[in-house]
Amino acid sequence: MGHGAGGYIGAMESIVIHRPGGHGRLTVEQAPDPTPGPGEVLVATRAIGVNYADCIVRMGLYASAKEYVGWPITPGFEFSGEVLAVGAGGQPAAAGEYMPAVGELVVGLTRFGAYASRVVVPRTNLFPIPTGLTALEAAALPVNFLTAWYALEELAPVEEGDRVLVHSAAGGVGSMALQVARARGARVAAVVGSSHKVAAARELGAELVIDKSTEMLWPAAAQWVRADSGEGSAEQGAAAGFDVILDANGTETLRPGYGHLAPEGRLVTYGFASLFPRGAARPNPLRLAWGWLRRPRFDPLDLINANKSVMGFNLSYLFNRQAALARALGRMDELLGNGQLRPPTITPYPLGEVARAHRDLESGTTIGKLVLVPE
Ligand SMILES: NC(=O)c1ccc[n+]([C@@H]2O[C@H](COP(=O)([O-])OP(=O)(O)OC[C@H]3O[C@@H](n4cnc5c(N)ncnc54)[C@H](OP(=O)(O)O)[C@@H]3O)[C@@H](O)[C@H]2O)c1
Repeated sequence: MGHGAGGYIGAMESIVIHRPGGHGRLTVEQAPDPTPGPGEVLVATRAIGVNYADCIVRMGLYASAKEYVGWPITPGFEFSGEVLAVGAGGQPAAAGEYMPAVGELVVGLTRFGAYASRVVVPRTNLFPIPTGLTALEAAALPVNFLTAWYALEELAPVEEGDRVLVHSAAGGVGSMALQVARARGARVAAVVGSSHKVAAARELGAELVIDKSTEMLWPAAAQWVRADSGEGSAEQGAAAGFDVILDANGTETLRPGYGHLAPEGRLVTYGFASLFPRGAARPNPLRLAWGWLRRPRFDPLDLINANKSVMGFNLSYLFNRQAALARALGRMDELLGNGQLRPPTITPYPLGEVARAHRDLESGTTIGKLVLVPE
């Protein structure tokens, strides 16, 4: 509860960004608890997932944040916590629909606004915490799992024996993608940017881990494919390659990745981290412009003739597709239940130390997931 110079301020603490910029723009503000309207639920958060996208929101470069919220903005897509109040009225529950009750522990998704000790969301954005998960684990999973699920089960479904290459494989999305691909019987080449991440990617089931800090990415990937497809085999003659590549790097790796796809291969692009300098709180305009100008263009005629696809998506545009979200989280429960998915390594930070969490994530050295914990 906050007590400022003017006395009582309110129970809710949230991280508010008034203008785009560096870590100093992440301000802690107090306000009275919000009231849930019809069909809405007020949750006291216990843990909040941090995503690389939140850093881009803070920098003012995240398109859907500008489209849906503008300034000021409270970032954050996911949280877990306890239901404090359920808004009166609203639609009656549909058959089989989850109805959160006061006192229950829930996990939730929201299009921005989760960096707070209180969150109000439509009840359809809340789900029971999967059995056996802590509040921290529950908040760490949804966005990363949904991203991996959407890429590998909806957009570019992988099959038994497929070769999949996952960039940034020890990170939040990467560690989920690796496990989802493995659960579908695919064989994964994991790419990491530093040596301390190699063991994490291997433990998650990667057959090959390419450490970009010590070896050349594409020669190592090609060598694995060559050995795997069998020297002189028919497949090799038909240009063996990867069936699916997941790429959130952008400019640096998209074009060569496309070149390393097998026929019918799919290159899934869902982020552009290489536009931003590692360890810097603000984008460098020159680097941004250079990366932007050099971004690859794919000619549709080439796609047809090469028999390959390039696909992209942004989960934040899918947040109101409740049926799909429920299906995805059901799949997450199934994989957690049968041991094919485990929660990521978690590094917790007090909510008030959000700047440190962003700094660490932007350093490009973290493994697994960073989670904020309201004090
Ligand atoms: N489209 C969508 O719906 C969607 C949804 C979720 C996430 N994403 C994107 O997926 C990517 C991963 O997100 P995440 O939250 O799970 O983060 P993360 O992978 O835990 O951390 C980011 C990782 O990206 C790599 N990286 C490459 N260039 C970087 C740079 N300039 N600065 C910092 N890191 C850099 C680093 O790993 P290595 O050095 O090991 O490569 C770093 O550890 C992000 O690009 C994010 O925007 C997209």
